[in-house]
Amino acid sequence: MKRNILIHPDPRLKKVCAPVADISDELRTLADDMLETMYDAPGIGLAAPQIGVLDRLIVLDCIKEEGEAPRPLIMFNPEIIASSEETNVYEEGCLSIPEQFAEVTRPKVVDVTWMDRDGNQQQESFDGLWATCVQHEIDHLNGKLFIDYLKPLKRQMITRKMQKLKREQARA
Ligand code: NI
Repeated sequence: MKRNILIHPDPRLKKVCAPVADISDELRTLADDMLETMYDAPGIGLAAPQIGVLDRLIVLDCIKEEGEAPRPLIMFNPEIIASSEETNVYEEGCLSIPEQFAEVTRPKVVDVTWMDRDGNQQQESFDGLWATCVQHEIDHLNGKLFIDYLKPLKRQMITRKMQKLKREQARA
């Protein structure tokens, strides 16, 4: 089932999310719903707080090439255990901040641990766009948005645009 994506500014997007204890059917359904919502948007990553659920859960799939097999990843309690000194710059966007993009510098490679859909512990090294995406999504679990990396003036400008968008949506 597709879920509604919260638009910034929203207090739920500023919260630190709680770790997940055990994987239940309810959590599996939530993760599947998040993937459906992400693909439909379309986006390459989504964090639970973006649909108003304050659990440490993210989903991502950075395969964008036509004809390439999708690679949906579901991560409960994702944690970055190592980051490269080498950095990468990507123009980032966010489904909670529609149609706004800005360059963000982040470590190029990150090692991440997480619990998968079956409750198994996983670890993998991510590079390039995957690394940027997983860091962006984990930031969401700590109440941090990509615009928090920007200069205050640019951040305020984007926030005002989003407030206007929300007013328009409320009227429609
Ligand atoms: Ni985002």
